[in-house]
Amino acid sequence: MNPAQNSLLELKLAAIRELEYDDFFSMFGRGRISKVRGLYAGTLRPAMSPGAREYWDRHIDFFSGERRRSFYFRGSSGWFAWLVNRYIDRVARARDSIEAILHAGSIEEQQSIYESQLRPIFWTKFVRWLLGRDATLSLVGVPRPQREQVEKSYVGGIAKFVEDSIETVFTRLSLQDNYFWRVCLTGEYSPTCCPVYLRADNFQRLRGGLVDRVSTHTASVTQFLTQQSPLISRFVLLDHMEWLSTSRQPALAQEWQAIVDHATPDARILWRSGGLLTDFVDRVRVLHDGREREVAELLRYQRGLADDLHARDRVHSYGSFHIAHMAT
Ligand SMILES: C[S@@+](CC[C@H](N)C(=O)[O-])C[C@H]1O[C@@H](n2cnc3c(N)ncnc32)[C@H](O)[C@@H]1O
Repeated sequence: MNPAQNSLLELKLAAIRELEYDDFFSMFGRGRISKVRGLYAGTLRPAMSPGAREYWDRHIDFFSGERRRSFYFRGSSGWFAWLVNRYIDRVARARDSIEAILHAGSIEEQQSIYESQLRPIFWTKFVRWLLGRDATLSLVGVPRPQREQVEKSYVGGIAKFVEDSIETVFTRLSLQDNYFWRVCLTGEYSPTCCPVYLRADNFQRLRGGLVDRVSTHTASVTQFLTQQSPLISRFVLLDHMEWLSTSRQPALAQEWQAIVDHATPDARILWRSGGLLTDFVDRVRVLHDGREREVAELLRYQRGLADDLHARDRVHSYGSFHIAHMAT
């Protein structure tokens, strides 16, 4: 739905097709490449749609490394991450501890660094206050309905939820391969700690043809399904459904109607939620085979696997994760 996100995806696709691996990693791994203007004008821009060109004509300097700020510290969430890093560097003076914990060789070492050096500076009264503000949460992409989902189901509310989630990331999950948090805390990935599309062997596979399988559509899920009328066997819905769950209930029902109408019989549907409960999905009513049914009657949840994977989620900022199979 967000054209900026698809513009970014188009830029990545163009870069996979047009750049050598070192330049590709410099751009999307390190988040900066000084010759970006030349690369953009000469090779990347011509390989993109008019909408994406219009976006990058205004923003390609995000990658130029100006004022030593990486691409990953641009945009509104990026700006927030950059502020957090300024706080770490200038106020808490904790850069060495952050580097040490990112390079720790074991969970025990992470725990010891966190307890002795990071916990005391992370959870001040001011930080807790900040985390309770809607303005702060919207900067990191958590809108009001999502906050309400958490407040309903988590003892201690959203601030405690964030604190517990961050504590799990730092003291119970390995940080060595946690590229999600590395990029937030440093503004870049490393060659051994990065999303799989950035690894040299996968870059070659993408360039060798896999890249042609990606198509982008800037639309809501409902618009995409009803306008293109595809048959879909895998839906990865992320967390957007709870954005619809409070004030836009009819939109949620339309979306599930479209999903049910366009799902193959063996379809699998993945989503996650800030809240711990899924009742907002289960009670949605749709028409199926001429009868009105609740969505819960049409799905078979794979709870064991979903809970196991959720406990290991390296982002760890969601309340629940769901895998559902069409059970019709
Ligand atoms: C957690 S973000 C993921 C963003 C993106 N995949 C990325 O990695 O940067 C979820 C995104 O879902 C999109 N979204 C919200 N409601 C939607 C809807 N009804 N249909 C399709 N996408 C929606 C928004 O653009 C939002 O940014």
